[in-house]
Amino acid sequence: MARTIPSRHGDDAGRSTRYGNVVPIRRLPDQLVNQIAAGEVVERPASALKELVENAIDAGARRIVVELAAGGVDYLSVADDGSGMDAAQMRLAVERHATSKLPDGDLSAIATLGFRGEALPSIASVARLTLASRTPAGDGWTLSIDHGRVTGDGPVARGAGTTVTVEGLFAQVPARRKFLKSERSELAACVDVVRRLAMATPGVAFELRHDGRRLLVADAVAGELALPARLAALLGADFGDNAVPIDLNRDELSLGGLAGLPTFSRGVADHQFLFVNRRPVRDRLLVGAVRGAYQDLLARDRHPVVALFLDVPADFVDVNVHPAKTEVRFRDAALVRGMIVSGLRRALDAAGHRASTTVAVGALVAFAPGPVLDAAAYAPSFPPQSLGPGVSDHAPAWFAPAARTEAPAAMNGFPMGVARAQVAGTYIVAETPDGMILVDQHAAHERLTLERMKAARAGGRIAAQALLLPQVVEVDENAASHLVEHAAAFAALGLDLEGFGPKAVLVRATPALLGQVDATALVRDLADDLAAFDAAPGLAERLDAVAATMACHGSVRAGRTLSVTEMNALLREMEVTPHSGQCNHGRPTWVRLARTDLEKLFGRR
Ligand SMILES: Nc1ncnc2c1ncn2[C@@H]1O[C@H](COP(=O)(O)OP(=O)(O)OP(=O)(O)O)[C@@H](O)[C@H]1O
Ligand SMILES: [Mg+2]
Repeated sequence: MARTIPSRHGDDAGRSTRYGNVVPIRRLPDQLVNQIAAGEVVERPASALKELVENAIDAGARRIVVELAAGGVDYLSVADDGSGMDAAQMRLAVERHATSKLPDGDLSAIATLGFRGEALPSIASVARLTLASRTPAGDGWTLSIDHGRVTGDGPVARGAGTTVTVEGLFAQVPARRKFLKSERSELAACVDVVRRLAMATPGVAFELRHDGRRLLVADAVAGELALPARLAALLGADFGDNAVPIDLNRDELSLGGLAGLPTFSRGVADHQFLFVNRRPVRDRLLVGAVRGAYQDLLARDRHPVVALFLDVPADFVDVNVHPAKTEVRFRDAALVRGMIVSGLRRALDAAGHRASTTVAVGALVAFAPGPVLDAAAYAPSFPPQSLGPGVSDHAPAWFAPAARTEAPAAMNGFPMGVARAQVAGTYIVAETPDGMILVDQHAAHERLTLERMKAARAGGRIAAQALLLPQVVEVDENAASHLVEHAAAFAALGLDLEGFGPKAVLVRATPALLGQVDATALVRDLADDLAAFDAAPGLAERLDAVAATMACHGSVRAGRTLSVTEMNALLREMEVTPHSGQCNHGRPTWVRLARTDLEKLFGRR
């Protein structure tokens, strides 16, 4: 047995290893090299599956069928009708660094998903791998490898194309096997991998079965609408209905796909599908750019749903930077980032005050099985002052004079309609030309305040309103130094603060357009923002987050009674304000019930 610790008696201390470098360097055996590579390439069934499906796509398959058992751990196979391999090619294919995909040996012009010649030998070193294949003109052949050893090599009768089977992944590598998760989450990862590859290749038909059950099916689609059709098949028609198309070209770069409306957001970031030259990636730069684009449209714990396809010249991107080929490096990262942020923003801006359709549909369901209602119990309460004309005593400072309007006599030209009532001190009921809408006053107002702050910021400084008495806000040391460090940026937003000992700041003025705010609560939330967005790349994005927090503090709260005039002013402002369909946290600010919906509810249709 080799010793690694010097003997106390010194008999073999001269050859020992721990402190000296006398151990001879030796080449590792192939099987070990492959296992080490597998450590990077094959982390779980889903990563093996990804490699096999990529190979099938690279082989020009028109149809790919995936079979799994026990989450892919016990069994996974990928059958394709692609170019196939003959016996000699197959033997080469399972050798390390053997690939057909770099004909010119040029790593800067990679047009295929694979290029390293590493996947098959890596998988074969940690499982039982069987290849069965036939080229259109040749005979069928099969080759089996068990943890690196050839166990079968002979003819087989089969159709053109290739089937690769992987059994007992990590069965003999307990150190890796114990890191596998539950069958369910391994399966989920497998489905995710296939879904992503299928999204990028609408011309290829896909089918995935687990223990005989079909979990994913996508027919091949061609033509101009192939991509939207494929996205709808894999992500649901809902997504298409609640997303805006992206189509942007800059220099030799192009960005396409769909960006979900903020109201269609999710609680996890799993629904972001990003592709570079049709290669699914989970690149940090791209994820950050998407986050940046949605920053002031979504709360921090909400994530947009996007399917974005970035196409760039092959030499603009290095795909050889990550063992699983899921990250890339761009020649000009700032250009890519800018393109994504501005492309998404512009498209979302154009979506205007659109809110997600699914919200209204969901709410309607609640109405649907109409029991016999006690009409009185459901009648909206009309706040007394809402019946009188003019502005109530509660007229908030936040309505710009220009936005004050009397209730319009005719509704034409007012898509958000005419305010009729306020319900629960929270919702505005408005009658529109074709039905009615309900507006969440706090959510809506928060968005309006934020958009005003953004406009004011674009036009220079935001006016500050000095506090009668400067206010001391106690925070922890970290937060205090963060806040002071960004004092100049806050000042530009109308918030004047300065250091006040190690654990407090002194607030002298708050942004005028927020009206009366609780400076303590505002400053503490801003400190949280700074901590959370410390990693945000640009000052502009950080300021967006800060502005969103401020807007939330400056907004009319739920529960506050509004006059008809105030309600109408809010509606008019929503009509002309970008993004007014969702609050800064991505919730809808209003929902609509069309007259036809009402008629259906009452059985008139
Ligand atoms: N389904 C298939 N149909 C036809 N040929 C295949 C198939 N799978 C693999 N091959 C051949 O085997 C070779 C080795 O595959 P492997 O996945 O190990 O490496 P690669 O795809 O070239 O590169 P990478 O390691 O980046 O995936 C490929 O280059 C290809 O020629
Ligand atoms: Mg490959």
